[in-house]
Amino acid sequence: MSVLRARNIAYRRGGRTILDRVTVEVGPGQMLAVSGPSGSGKTSLLLIAAGLMPADEGEVLLDGVPVAEWSSQARASIGVILQTYGLMPFLTAEENVALPMQARRMPRAAIEEAASTALEEVGLAGTRHRLVSELSGGQKQRVALARAIAGEPEVIIADEPTSELDPENRDRVIKLLVAKASAGSAVAVASHDRHVTAACHRVIRLVHGHVVPGEPRR
Ligand SMILES: Nc1ncnc2c1ncn2[C@@H]1O[C@H](COP(=O)(O)OP(=O)(O)OP(=O)(O)O)[C@@H](O)[C@H]1O
Ligand SMILES: [Mg+2]
Repeated sequence: MSVLRARNIAYRRGGRTILDRVTVEVGPGQMLAVSGPSGSGKTSLLLIAAGLMPADEGEVLLDGVPVAEWSSQARASIGVILQTYGLMPFLTAEENVALPMQARRMPRAAIEEAASTALEEVGLAGTRHRLVSELSGGQKQRVALARAIAGEPEVIIADEPTSELDPENRDRVIKLLVAKASAGSAVAVASHDRHVTAACHRVIRLVHGHVVPGEPRR
């Protein structure tokens, strides 16, 4: 059970302020939505909170431990779905899902079981041996989700996880993320899909890198 906090995050590039002292927090059992228009800073915030990109100011803490001191185990306890997926096209769906668990040195049998469960959960059981390069956009997005949730991560960070999905798969993905939060994961999702934000416990809205207060939950 982990709490992820990003406090007073400032991020500037090319003379522009992309995030201006943004604070977010998500804990076990919670599902947080980060909404806001295109270019408002959602991806930047999630990448910084996941420890994948350094902020110019502020701190990112996992259970109180600053990002610079995260162990490989701590890093591996955060499952991330990138907006651009970041899948290996020349590996199969199942091999892609297995990668972070291999990096964590999980036993082979446990990896196989977790990968197969995660692919089933996203509705891709029959696709596990196909190369990612042969999959549709929505199938790739679901492989990326399976990779993020496999092995029960403490924290799940999902950047626009439903952007390429039909309504049926979108609902499946929302239910899955809600179920992961109910099981104790801390879930943060960037999305402007109202179906996603409606399923979240809290919504923060970014506009030009600022948190805009008082956003309704829909
Ligand atoms: N490394 C960078 N250099 C310059 N500008 C950047 C850099 N990274 C992000 N930006 C700019 O910061 C702003 C926020 O980008 P970001 O990708 O975080 O937005 P977003 O809210 O995720 O948008 P979208 O909904 O389109 O995914 C954009 O205007 C983008 O062009
Ligand atoms: Mg984005």
